[in-house]
This record gives sequence, C-alpha cells and structure tokens, in this order.
Amino acid sequence: MAREEKGKYNCSACGASTLLWTGKCPSCGAWGSLEKEVPLAGIGGRSAAPAKVVEVDSVVSPSRLSTGFAEFDRVLGGGWVPGGVILLGGAPGIGKSTLLLQTCGAMAARGVKILYISGEESASQVALRARRLGADNPGLRLYCDSDLASGLAALGDHGFLVVDSVQAMKAEEGGGWPGTPGQVRAAAQMCISAAKDRSVPAVLVGHITKEGRIAGPMLLEHMVDGVLTFSGEDYSPYRMLRANKNRFGSTEELGVFEMGEKGLLPVDDVSSLYWNKAEQSVPGVAMTMVLEGSLPLAAEIQSLAAGTAFPYPRRTARGIDVNKIQLFAAVLEKRCGIGCGLFDIYVNVAGGLQLKEPASDLALCAALASSVRDVPLPGKCLFLGEVGLAGEIRPVTRLPRRLQEASRLGFTRAVISSRENQLKGAPMETVRAATLREALKEVMR
Ligand code: TYD
Ligand code: MG
Repeated sequence: MAREEKGKYNCSACGASTLLWTGKCPSCGAWGSLEKEVPLAGIGGRSAAPAKVVEVDSVVSPSRLSTGFAEFDRVLGGGWVPGGVILLGGAPGIGKSTLLLQTCGAMAARGVKILYISGEESASQVALRARRLGADNPGLRLYCDSDLASGLAALGDHGFLVVDSVQAMKAEEGGGWPGTPGQVRAAAQMCISAAKDRSVPAVLVGHITKEGRIAGPMLLEHMVDGVLTFSGEDYSPYRMLRANKNRFGSTEELGVFEMGEKGLLPVDDVSSLYWNKAEQSVPGVAMTMVLEGSLPLAAEIQSLAAGTAFPYPRRTARGIDVNKIQLFAAVLEKRCGIGCGLFDIYVNVAGGLQLKEPASDLALCAALASSVRDVPLPGKCLFLGEVGLAGEIRPVTRLPRRLQEASRLGFTRAVISSRENQLKGAPMETVRAATLREALKEVMR
C-alpha cells in the first residue's frame, strides 16, 4: 500500500514535509494533502542542446479578447490574453457565475465560441440563468458535469473556456473528493495545460475560505496568470472586481458593478459612488479625492465631536485608522491651538469606503477641526494633502487627475500643499497652504 512505503511526503497546501504518511498534515492541519515526493531524475548529468533564445523586442504582444465590459477589461489590463488562465475568487453568492455568464454572452454575441464547464449547476439551471441575463447565444456551449477530463476533451475549436468551479471538478481517479488540495491542484493543472496547448484564454472560478483565501493549495495562486477577486458587502448591491495578481497588467485597477434584476451592470459614475452630495454644509464634514488604482473616488469624511464625560476621551473610527485620529488631534492641539482633549470624537467615512492613502490626511484634519470648533467648512471644497507631525502639508500623488475628476463632479475649490508643482493650470480655484494652521485659517474664519 502506498501509504506504508518509505519516502518523503510533501503537503500540497503548506509545503511541509514529513517521512510518514498521515491523513492530516501535521503542520497546517489540511486533510488529504500529503503527497509522495517524486525524485527528479537525470537533472545535472544531462547534456542538453542550447535552448532557443529570442530578443525581447522581437516578441509580439498577443491580441486581447474583450470581455464586453469596459470595467472588466480594465481590471484585466485590456481583456483576456490567449493561453492566459485567470482565477476568479469570491464568496458564495457574490455573483461570480453571473459575471462570467454575462461576459460569455457578450463574447458569444461577437462570434466567440465558448465552452462553459460547470460542476456546480445543471445545464437547465445555467441555461435558465443565461436566458434571464440575455446571454443565451448559441455560441455559448455548456458541459455540466464534474468529470473534468471529458469536459476538456470537448474544448476542440472553442475560443474561450470557463471552469465553474475548480473546487467542484474531479480531475484524478482515486484522488479523493473534489475540492481536496490534490484534486484542486490536478484540476487547475489540467485546465492550464489545455488553455496553453490551444492558446485559449481560460477562467477558473475559485471558492474562498472563511479567511478570504482561495480554497485549495497555496500553489494554486502561483500556477495561474492572474487572480481576480469579486467582493461586496451583504447590505450593498455594489460588487468590486480587483486583480490581486496579474501577469498581463496592473493589480491596481478597480471595476465596480451593481447587482440588480437583470444581473450585473457596470457602474459608470464610480467616482461619486461614496458621496451623498448633501447640499447644506454641516460642521465636521470634509471632502477629499482618493485613488483606487487609476480611479479617483470622491470620499466624504464625517467627524462628530461631543463633550466628553470621561477622563480619557473616546476616539472611534470607521473607514479610517483610529490611530490617525489620535495623531492628528495632537497635531491640531500643538500646531493650530485647537484642543480636542475635552471631546469624544467619532469619525466615519461615508458609504463604507476604507481610506488608506495619506492624501486624505488634510481632509481628516479639516473634518476634526471643523467638528471641534462647530464651524462648517465651505461647500464644494476639496482637501488634498498629507499632513506631517510638524503640521506641514505635503503634496499628493497624481494631483491633476484628482482635480480633473473633482471638477467634473462640481467641486470648485481645492486646498492643497504650497509645495505642489504638478499643476499647469488647475481646473478649479486652488488654495495653497504650507501648514495646517494656514489652511484652516483660510477655510474656517
Ligand atoms: P451567483 O453568480 O450564483 O454567485 P456565485 O457564483 O458567486 O456563487 O450569484 C447569485 C446571487 O446573485 C444570488 O444570490 C442572486 C443574485 N442575482 C441577482 O440579484 N440578480 C440576477 O440577475 C442574478 C442572475 C443573480
Ligand atoms: Mg457560482
């Protein structure tokens, strides 16, 4: 029996090795993941013919196949690449199958022959959904079974492959249940070979674990050319598509879709998604423009300062690091004479957006100062700057791009660093300030 043989066993999930086969990896606890190591024979002593090498500029870039959605194309770096394999991960029910069926429908309508292998749903389920989404084009062909080898044998002259999902596929006879690390790895390997052999773009759907990782061996993410994640909050119809790894493009792009009656619709005006466009000015509200990849988003920071009953005032934050409130409260007190010590401070970034960029520092400081003083900031005004401990305001990256989009949304004034030198004619009035004190004097009289 194989399990009693002597040798070395490696865990396909975490890479740990052991001399004894066990059902459970002693290192990471994965079940059925230990596999016997096969020694590599012949390397080193072999005399090989020199390999064919090519000049980098003589290699032509492959032509891309559009997904039919500008948002999706942008995240991929311009569309699918022939032979490129993309793993699409996301929580159950988030809309992975819906997104793929819609893109397949759009591609089939342009004459691409598509093989859609589903191990999770029956042909009638997929067809019903395709019909509802208007993706029921004859070019879209279904194979609904978990026998991957038979499915891939039908690839033939299809120009695009979907495998939904890699965890539902049975790749090796006797290799355990679908979804075990060995099966997932074998299934992915088979899909990758099929895609590369025929130079067909392929997308594999991947389930994610409770921790948010793609289920299966860690190796899986290394094997494919790109890993996309599709995510969203339970309460919100918006879905975000991001690339975590992309051999064919940037990993910075964000695509936003809205889930509705007719499936997913790309969101056109993403930049104002998180902004509730309130008309009247309220103390404690400051606007900024953050970048998600190359996409500018208007972000609204709301701060509420209320007299405290505690010796240690409360600092609560949603959408921003709470330590930033502590830090900028100290900067405001020391550099601007605005004491925050007698107030509990609550900060919220509207719409559930997470702010990580230092470019939003100035807006946070303005929101804090405005709430502590109880003076509203001017309307249609934007704050863009990084704030240092000395109270100085530093320039931000890609200022022209942010201002251009802000101007399109109707902002008329921007408070920026006096050291900004990226602007050649700003699309709006700019207030240049060297320090936080100067900036606040300008906007809170
Ligand atoms: P699905 O694509 O099956 O998710 P996944 O493949 O990621 O598991 O999406 C299922 C959810 O999407 C389901 O809860 C219903 C919702 N949905 C809509 O709201 N509108 C639609 O038109 C479709 C097709 C799905
Ligand atoms: Mg699905």
